[in-house]
Amino acid sequence: MSIELYISERMIKDRIKELADEINRDYQNQEVILIGILNGAFMFCADLIRQLTVTNQLEFMLASSYGKKTISSGNVNIGLDIKNPITGKNVLIVEDIVDTGLTVNCIIELLKERNPKSIKLVSLVHKPARSKYPVHIDYLGFEIEDEFIVGYGLDFAGLYRGLPYIGIYRNE
Ligand code: IMP
Repeated sequence: MSIELYISERMIKDRIKELADEINRDYQNQEVILIGILNGAFMFCADLIRQLTVTNQLEFMLASSYGKKTISSGNVNIGLDIKNPITGKNVLIVEDIVDTGLTVNCIIELLKERNPKSIKLVSLVHKPARSKYPVHIDYLGFEIEDEFIVGYGLDFAGLYRGLPYIGIYRNE
Protein backbone atom coordinates (compact mmCIF):
# COMPACT_ATOMS: atom_id res chain seq x y z
CA MET A 1 0.00 0.00 0.00
CA SER A 2 1.25 3.51 -0.74
CA ILE A 3 -0.13 7.03 -0.63
CA GLU A 4 1.38 9.48 -3.08
CA LEU A 5 1.07 13.21 -2.44
CA TYR A 6 -1.41 14.65 -4.95
CA ILE A 7 -2.79 17.96 -3.61
CA SER A 8 -0.68 19.60 -0.92
CA GLU A 9 -1.90 21.28 2.24
CA ARG A 10 -0.77 24.63 0.82
CA MET A 11 -2.70 24.13 -2.44
CA ILE A 12 -5.86 23.17 -0.53
CA LYS A 13 -5.58 26.17 1.77
CA ASP A 14 -5.04 28.63 -1.11
CA ARG A 15 -7.89 27.19 -3.19
CA ILE A 16 -10.31 27.30 -0.24
CA LYS A 17 -9.50 30.99 0.23
CA GLU A 18 -10.36 31.60 -3.44
CA LEU A 19 -13.63 29.65 -3.16
CA ALA A 20 -14.56 31.53 0.01
CA ASP A 21 -13.88 34.87 -1.71
CA GLU A 22 -16.33 33.91 -4.48
CA ILE A 23 -18.94 32.72 -1.99
CA ASN A 24 -18.57 35.89 0.09
CA ARG A 25 -19.07 37.98 -3.05
CA ASP A 26 -22.09 36.00 -4.30
CA TYR A 27 -23.99 35.98 -1.00
CA GLN A 28 -23.20 39.57 -0.02
CA ASN A 29 -25.92 40.88 2.33
CA GLN A 30 -27.64 37.49 2.38
CA GLU A 31 -27.60 34.65 4.86
CA VAL A 32 -26.58 31.13 3.88
CA ILE A 33 -27.04 27.74 5.51
CA LEU A 34 -24.07 25.47 4.88
CA ILE A 35 -24.97 21.78 4.83
CA GLY A 36 -21.86 19.65 5.20
CA ILE A 37 -22.17 16.09 3.97
CA LEU A 38 -20.65 13.67 6.47
CA ASN A 39 -18.32 12.06 6.96
CA GLY A 40 -15.97 13.19 4.23
CA ALA A 41 -16.70 16.93 4.19
CA PHE A 42 -16.01 17.65 7.87
CA MET A 43 -12.50 19.00 7.31
CA PHE A 44 -13.39 21.02 4.22
CA CYS A 45 -16.36 22.55 6.11
CA ALA A 46 -14.16 23.49 9.04
CA ASP A 47 -11.61 25.27 6.84
CA LEU A 48 -14.17 26.87 4.49
CA ILE A 49 -16.35 28.34 7.25
CA ARG A 50 -13.32 30.05 8.80
CA GLN A 51 -12.83 32.00 5.56
CA LEU A 52 -16.47 33.08 5.23
CA THR A 53 -17.45 36.63 6.08
CA VAL A 54 -21.03 36.18 4.89
CA THR A 55 -23.62 35.45 7.62
CA ASN A 56 -23.92 31.69 7.89
CA GLN A 57 -25.28 28.75 9.82
CA LEU A 58 -23.84 25.25 9.73
CA GLU A 59 -25.72 21.96 9.60
CA PHE A 60 -24.58 18.44 8.83
CA MET A 61 -26.24 15.59 6.99
CA LEU A 62 -25.06 12.00 6.81
CA ALA A 63 -26.20 10.63 3.50
CA SER A 64 -25.38 7.75 1.21
CA SER A 65 -27.07 6.70 -1.99
CA TYR A 66 -28.41 3.20 -2.61
CA GLY A 67 -26.68 3.11 -5.97
CA LYS A 68 -29.86 2.76 -8.04
CA LYS A 69 -29.78 4.00 -11.60
CA THR A 70 -32.33 6.77 -11.21
CA ILE A 71 -31.96 10.04 -9.39
CA SER A 72 -34.61 10.41 -6.73
CA SER A 73 -34.84 11.66 -3.17
CA GLY A 74 -36.00 8.12 -2.31
CA ASN A 75 -32.61 6.70 -3.30
CA VAL A 76 -30.70 8.39 -0.57
CA ASN A 77 -30.28 6.93 2.87
CA ILE A 78 -30.23 9.66 5.53
CA GLY A 79 -28.24 8.58 8.58
CA LEU A 80 -28.45 12.02 10.14
CA ASP A 81 -30.68 14.85 8.99
CA ILE A 82 -30.35 18.61 9.46
CA LYS A 83 -32.05 20.00 12.56
CA ASN A 84 -33.82 23.09 11.19
CA PRO A 85 -36.19 23.85 8.30
CA ILE A 86 -34.63 25.41 5.19
CA THR A 87 -37.84 26.83 3.68
CA GLY A 88 -37.09 30.17 2.04
CA LYS A 89 -33.37 29.97 2.93
CA ASN A 90 -30.21 29.96 0.82
CA VAL A 91 -28.63 26.53 1.04
CA LEU A 92 -25.02 25.74 0.17
CA ILE A 93 -24.24 22.02 0.11
CA VAL A 94 -20.63 21.33 1.09
CA GLU A 95 -19.27 18.10 -0.41
CA ASP A 96 -15.82 16.57 -0.34
CA ILE A 97 -16.00 14.82 -3.71
CA VAL A 98 -18.38 14.39 -6.63
CA ASP A 99 -17.60 11.05 -8.26
CA THR A 100 -20.49 9.57 -10.31
CA GLY A 101 -22.69 12.41 -9.03
CA LEU A 102 -25.46 10.12 -7.76
CA THR A 103 -25.25 10.95 -4.06
CA VAL A 104 -25.26 14.69 -4.47
CA ASN A 105 -28.04 14.57 -7.09
CA CYS A 106 -30.23 12.61 -4.65
CA ILE A 107 -29.42 15.04 -1.84
CA ILE A 108 -30.35 18.00 -4.04
CA GLU A 109 -33.71 16.34 -4.91
CA LEU A 110 -34.40 15.72 -1.24
CA LEU A 111 -33.56 19.28 -0.18
CA LYS A 112 -35.57 20.81 -3.06
CA GLU A 113 -38.71 19.19 -1.63
CA ARG A 114 -38.22 21.38 1.44
CA ASN A 115 -38.60 24.56 -0.64
CA PRO A 116 -35.41 26.51 0.03
CA LYS A 117 -34.93 29.89 -1.66
CA SER A 118 -31.85 28.60 -3.47
CA ILE A 119 -29.56 25.56 -3.52
CA LYS A 120 -25.93 25.69 -4.57
CA LEU A 121 -23.12 23.19 -4.35
CA VAL A 122 -19.49 23.58 -3.38
CA SER A 123 -17.28 20.52 -3.84
CA LEU A 124 -13.59 20.35 -3.08
CA VAL A 125 -12.94 17.71 -5.73
CA HIS A 126 -14.60 16.43 -8.92
CA LYS A 127 -13.67 13.37 -10.98
CA PRO A 128 -15.21 14.16 -14.38
CA ALA A 129 -14.05 10.87 -15.91
CA ARG A 130 -16.48 8.97 -13.63
CA SER A 131 -19.44 11.31 -13.98
CA LYS A 132 -22.68 9.42 -14.73
CA TYR A 133 -25.24 11.75 -13.19
CA PRO A 134 -24.29 15.26 -14.28
CA VAL A 135 -24.50 17.87 -11.58
CA HIS A 136 -23.76 21.55 -11.70
CA ILE A 137 -20.99 22.35 -9.23
CA ASP A 138 -21.27 26.06 -8.46
CA TYR A 139 -17.92 26.24 -6.69
CA LEU A 140 -15.27 23.63 -7.46
CA GLY A 141 -11.89 23.27 -5.79
CA PHE A 142 -10.05 20.79 -7.99
CA GLU A 143 -10.84 18.68 -11.03
CA ILE A 144 -8.83 15.45 -10.77
CA GLU A 145 -7.90 12.40 -12.83
CA ASP A 146 -9.63 9.06 -12.31
CA GLU A 147 -7.64 8.13 -9.20
CA PHE A 148 -8.76 6.95 -5.77
CA ILE A 149 -7.82 9.67 -3.31
CA VAL A 150 -7.58 9.75 0.47
CA GLY A 151 -6.88 12.36 3.12
CA TYR A 152 -8.35 15.72 4.05
CA GLY A 153 -11.57 13.98 5.14
CA LEU A 154 -11.59 11.29 2.44
CA ASP A 155 -11.16 7.68 3.43
CA PHE A 156 -10.34 4.22 2.23
CA ALA A 157 -12.26 1.69 4.38
CA GLY A 158 -12.60 4.34 7.08
CA LEU A 159 -8.88 5.14 7.20
CA TYR A 160 -6.66 8.15 6.37
CA ARG A 161 -9.31 10.88 6.86
CA GLY A 162 -6.94 12.85 9.10
CA LEU A 163 -4.15 13.39 6.57
CA PRO A 164 -3.76 17.15 6.05
CA TYR A 165 -3.19 16.69 2.29
CA ILE A 166 -4.87 14.66 -0.47
CA GLY A 167 -2.98 11.63 -1.71
CA ILE A 168 -3.49 8.92 -4.31
CA TYR A 169 -4.15 5.58 -2.64
CA ARG A 170 -2.45 2.60 -4.29
CA ASN A 171 -2.99 -0.92 -3.07
CA GLU A 172 0.32 -2.38 -4.25
P1 IMP B 1 -20.86 9.53 -5.98
O1 IMP B 1 -20.43 8.42 -6.89
O2 IMP B 1 -20.65 10.89 -6.62
O3 IMP B 1 -22.28 9.31 -5.51
O4 IMP B 1 -19.90 9.50 -4.72
C1 IMP B 1 -20.15 8.66 -3.65
C2 IMP B 1 -19.15 8.76 -2.54
O5 IMP B 1 -18.06 7.91 -2.86
C3 IMP B 1 -18.48 10.11 -2.25
O6 IMP B 1 -19.27 10.98 -1.47
C4 IMP B 1 -17.26 9.65 -1.47
O7 IMP B 1 -17.59 9.40 -0.13
C5 IMP B 1 -16.93 8.32 -2.15
N1 IMP B 1 -15.79 8.47 -3.07
C6 IMP B 1 -15.80 8.58 -4.41
N2 IMP B 1 -14.56 8.68 -4.92
C7 IMP B 1 -13.73 8.64 -3.85
C8 IMP B 1 -12.29 8.72 -3.71
O8 IMP B 1 -11.51 8.85 -4.67
N3 IMP B 1 -11.81 8.62 -2.45
C9 IMP B 1 -12.60 8.48 -1.35
N4 IMP B 1 -13.94 8.42 -1.43
C10 IMP B 1 -14.50 8.50 -2.68
